[in-house]
Amino acid sequence: MSSAPQTTTTNETRMMNFRVWRGDANGGAFVEYSVEVTPGMVVLDCIHKIQAEQAQDLACRWNCKAGKCGSCSAEINGKPSLMCMTRMDTLPKDETVMVEPMQAFPILRDLVTDVSWNYEVKKKIKPFKPRAPDNADGTWTTYQVDVERAQEFRKCIECFLCQDVCHVLRDHHKHDEFIGPRFLVFTAALEMNPLDTEDRIADLKAIIEKMK
Ligand code: FES
Repeated sequence: MSSAPQTTTTNETRMMNFRVWRGDANGGAFVEYSVEVTPGMVVLDCIHKIQAEQAQDLACRWNCKAGKCGSCSAEINGKPSLMCMTRMDTLPKDETVMVEPMQAFPILRDLVTDVSWNYEVKKKIKPFKPRAPDNADGTWTTYQVDVERAQEFRKCIECFLCQDVCHVLRDHHKHDEFIGPRFLVFTAALEMNPLDTEDRIADLKAIIEKMK
């Protein structure tokens, strides 16, 4: 009977092996590094430690280190993840940690991908178009229940990990035919805004038609 992989405990310092994908659009390979992991470290800390001590030219993208900016998306042990939110003590302690770039987008270098396609898609979606103000002072009246309905859809940080797990984009590379989950959610957020008057349903139907 197989047992669950052991993870690091919170109070131990240990050496862990990494395999980090290095290369560019012309090709590349995994390179092995050994990193001293101390309690509380996340995968992004380990990548920074590799940069500082062993591979100054290792490219990775990050900004907030708090799960807010969506910059540090990568694949960790084959799973699309934020490097800054993946604690080392959640990974199997006796196994090599694989870190590679998102597969749904073109490689720029090492762990950095070109996600600009997403911004082009966003430009094609009709923007917010509010109804005329409800009140003489130019303001609108909205109800809390309407605000809360759309709130969940607005929490997206555009890390594009959902695009990376979408097999239409990741495996079939049908970026010309499908906008991916991020932009279905983005459209939903606009459609659910109680002030918005635009109709984007026809646009989505056209995309689905194109998929057939
Ligand atoms: S560095 Fe901002 S989400 Fe990871």
